Amino acid sequence: MIASKLLSIGEISQRTGVATSALRFYESIGLINSQRTTGNQRRFPRAIIRRVAVIKAAQRAGIPLDEIGRAMSTLPADRAPTRDDWERFSRSWKQDLERRIGQLTRIKDDLESCIGCGCLSIENCALFNPDDELAETLASTSKLEDLVDGVAGTIFV
Ligand code: FES
Repeated sequence: MIASKLLSIGEISQRTGVATSALRFYESIGLINSQRTTGNQRRFPRAIIRRVAVIKAAQRAGIPLDEIGRAMSTLPADRAPTRDDWERFSRSWKQDLERRIGQLTRIKDDLESCIGCGCLSIENCALFNPDDELAETLASTSKLEDLVDGVAGTIFV
């Protein structure tokens, strides 16, 4: 690659609005790659600008960095993500986001039923006993002392 087509970390920072420290961090975890000059300074291909844009947009949507890294690893290292790549990533991440919103909505509903209740009952409180662990213990325990141990374990874990 011709040296003049490479950009310094400061130029990438200026064009993306991402701090140089964040860019160094992205590089340290393999989200972006640089080349080094003879003076050991980082130089990035222009394609990195669009990669950084995808990383920032994904982070804004709450996508974990390891998931972003998995998506980026499907792209050739020297190519900017295309519109189709971004379409594919954003569709997949939207589904994740909807699943998480569903989980949070269920938790919020459970929490609402706790407001003004205060029972913290293993039988009635969906937040305290979300997967009905007592029922599971009852179904799998035949002796009384096992039952007591199982319930105590459920309460004190
Ligand atoms: S505290 Fe009673 S339902 Fe959660």
